[in-house]
Amino acid sequence: MFASPSETLAGLESAGYFTDIKTATAVYLAGRINRPVLLEGPAGAGKTELAQSVARAYGVSLLRLQCYQGINEEKAIGQYDRGLQELYVLLMSRTGGAPDWAQIKREISGRSFFMAGPLLEAIEQEKRCVLLIDEIDKVDYAFEAMLLELLSVWTLSIPKLGTVRATSIPHVFLTSNQERRLGDPLRRRSFYLVVEHPNAEREAAIVAERTPKASVATHRFIAGLAKSLRAYTLEKPPSISEMNDVAMAMELLRIDRILPQHKQIILPLIAKTEGDRKRLLMKEAFESIVRMAGKHAEQIAKEDVSGSEMAIAGREIPK
Ligand SMILES: Nc1ncnc2c1ncn2[C@@H]1O[C@H](COP(=O)(O)OP(=O)(O)OP(=O)(O)O)[C@@H](O)[C@H]1O
Ligand SMILES: [Mg+2]
Repeated sequence: MFASPSETLAGLESAGYFTDIKTATAVYLAGRINRPVLLEGPAGAGKTELAQSVARAYGVSLLRLQCYQGINEEKAIGQYDRGLQELYVLLMSRTGGAPDWAQIKREISGRSFFMAGPLLEAIEQEKRCVLLIDEIDKVDYAFEAMLLELLSVWTLSIPKLGTVRATSIPHVFLTSNQERRLGDPLRRRSFYLVVEHPNAEREAAIVAERTPKASVATHRFIAGLAKSLRAYTLEKPPSISEMNDVAMAMELLRIDRILPQHKQIILPLIAKTEGDRKRLLMKEAFESIVRMAGKHAEQIAKEDVSGSEMAIAGREIPK
């Protein structure tokens, strides 16, 4: 566990996740006072990756519950192993003498016959883990209500097995793409963060981490391209992962800068619906996006220079 928000920010960065001090502070505080973090924001903005990076940064295990429509408590919490129970009953009935059925019934309702799902596994860890409840907006209200007990008093009430108290309280992250509005009780119990697409400077840093051999100018150009594409009217504006794909493609194809003639190569990486493909194929559309990307890249370079000059000047000011 990190000792401060700035240590959390640096820890996340060394785990490959670039964010700001506001996010790092919320993550730090949620960890210290045992609150879940609810992350909402556009697809590909880095919600899932934040939870994964926290686990990497702390060097702890990550338990993940991938939500989907129709998910039930058995999948999330666990269920009795019927086969094992039947086998045990069979063995006990063959041990000679009259079997003590009441005793056998008690035994097969015990913890050793129960196969834990990710929620139970998370609270039974000796060492605190990260629990990622991914895409919570896909579940119904009943399932969401079931989570409230876990996320407020850190227990799970399981029929027959009883109430299981947390051995360690997990660091919980819930993510949502806002397909359905989450209930207020869950929101109230959580720290709420909106994960947006990064600013150009951070986007360049993320891309640089993935393609360290490419030049600074290429990283800036890709960050400029992201900005330019997101300003264009697209059904599915590209996220960081598409921009990372563009960077890797440029490295493989030995291209430092995307030119209008690269349209057919780049399109499958950035246009993910037929509508967006058509929009980008419209006359001059791709050309103007590429032109704007170049302008944004120049601006990022200027800001980088003035930012580092200010940092140097700042260091020279006597205290
Ligand atoms: N801040 C960041 N620092 C480094 N890499 C990032 C960051 N944000 C996103 N990424 C990269 O973008 C990819 C997509 O992020 P992620 O899967 O977390 O998005 P998401 O918000 O969970 O999207 P979805 O809503 O589609 O599940 C990650 O695999 C990671 O490589
Ligand atoms: Mg995700």
